[in-house]
Amino acid sequence: MAKVKTKFVCLECGYESVKWLGKCPDCSGYSTFTEERIFEEKNASKKILDFDVKKPVCLDHIEIVEADRVKTGMEELDRVLGDGFVKGSLVLIGGEPGIGKSTLLLQVSELVAKKEVDVLYITGEESLSQIKMRADRLGVLSKQIHILPETNIEIIIETIKKDHPQFLIVDSIQTIYTDEITSVPGSVSQVREITNMFMNISKNMGITTVIIGHVTKEGNIAGPKILEHMVDTVLYFEGERLNTNRIIRTVKNRFGSTNEIGVFEMGAKGLIEIAEPSKLLIESKKEASGSVIGCALEGTRPLLLEIQALVTKTNLPMPRRTAIGIDYNRLSLLVAIIEKHLNVYLGAYDVYVNVVGGFKVNDTSTDLAVVTAVLSSYYDQILPNDVAFVGEVGLLGEIRSIINFEARQKELKKMGFKYCFTANTDTVISGFDVKLIQNVRDLRKTIKG
Ligand code: TYD
Ligand code: MG
Repeated sequence: MAKVKTKFVCLECGYESVKWLGKCPDCSGYSTFTEERIFEEKNASKKILDFDVKKPVCLDHIEIVEADRVKTGMEELDRVLGDGFVKGSLVLIGGEPGIGKSTLLLQVSELVAKKEVDVLYITGEESLSQIKMRADRLGVLSKQIHILPETNIEIIIETIKKDHPQFLIVDSIQTIYTDEITSVPGSVSQVREITNMFMNISKNMGITTVIIGHVTKEGNIAGPKILEHMVDTVLYFEGERLNTNRIIRTVKNRFGSTNEIGVFEMGAKGLIEIAEPSKLLIESKKEASGSVIGCALEGTRPLLLEIQALVTKTNLPMPRRTAIGIDYNRLSLLVAIIEKHLNVYLGAYDVYVNVVGGFKVNDTSTDLAVVTAVLSSYYDQILPNDVAFVGEVGLLGEIRSIINFEARQKELKKMGFKYCFTANTDTVISGFDVKLIQNVRDLRKTIKG
């Protein structure tokens, strides 16, 4: 019998090697290699999808057609998609198991079905009765939604060709397999080939396709980055299990801007849109030391956040630094800036920082709020409830101005704030006040009054 040939594939980026490697030379991931069987390259997608050969078109003769879109009517989702789903596009929604991907897509099915769009929902994870039970709970009733519990791509493609749905949902890509490849479902080669097949069929038949992908704990779509390159749009579903807030973030979008977010809350009847996320994120703020309001910019939208810090004496030889919702390295850097420029030695203190509401910030304009929160806790001084701190902090302790200050002022004013500390010298909107601050050194007198 012929010896089974195997190769080693990086789960993070798809890099292939003949031998096992501890560190991936491509994406630098550690222990990411897995053994897979080598199969005969039959190019299954070509065999199944026997479409006409297309002729190249002269660039000069191409007419620009506005992308035809299907709006869900769910504002928070339509915005992250760049004004709805583009017909015939391939969208990937990634997120940790249990975050609410299936729930969202079932709700989306109902919304698009109401617009006379035929939906085919392929489920490889749940049974028909499980889906029905969930649909009943969510009030999903449309007769235009069809469910197919199937994991074999060959059967799925036959069904698609026969039924011609306009909207296709694949839940989840890791459960679907092709007979052409011997490796297990969810393996790099399976996921790559299956996505390729869905891409072909969605482009050729003009079917809007949404692929659900589970994400590994490192935050990559298991199966993984190769998927991101193939699809038109990549959305990530974020949130913490114990918290009901859910955020959808655009990571890639060929039909709109990235960095947009949509905010939802997971309720008893599925996901509810949160039109005013700032309100939700700051409403529980208490007047206490260590609590400071900052303002991040998510895409085009300003978002107010409560930053909490706790600074406590430590007995540990290495003081603890915990950052939840902000980058750990950013926190270390800000702590170093405080030590250097305010002569506050935090070496004997543990520093914990948390962004309330399970929100993850990747905007440096919240630096000033983080520094202020740490100092507020250190000095045990409470800051007034109607003030915010907006600015980036540089290594020299200088406060830097940030973009879109006007939009942030408006958001702050709308949420009942009277003034903010900032380095921005832009026009101040009426009914709002700005206190200029140049360096973190000046925070001491602000905090100690
Ligand atoms: P689900 O959509 O199955 O997650 P995923 O597909 O991302 O794995 O969501 C599962 C969780 O959502 C589960 O813990 C229960 C909760 N949930 C609600 O809170 N309300 C609801 O109406 C539904 C349908 C689910
Ligand atoms: Mg699911």
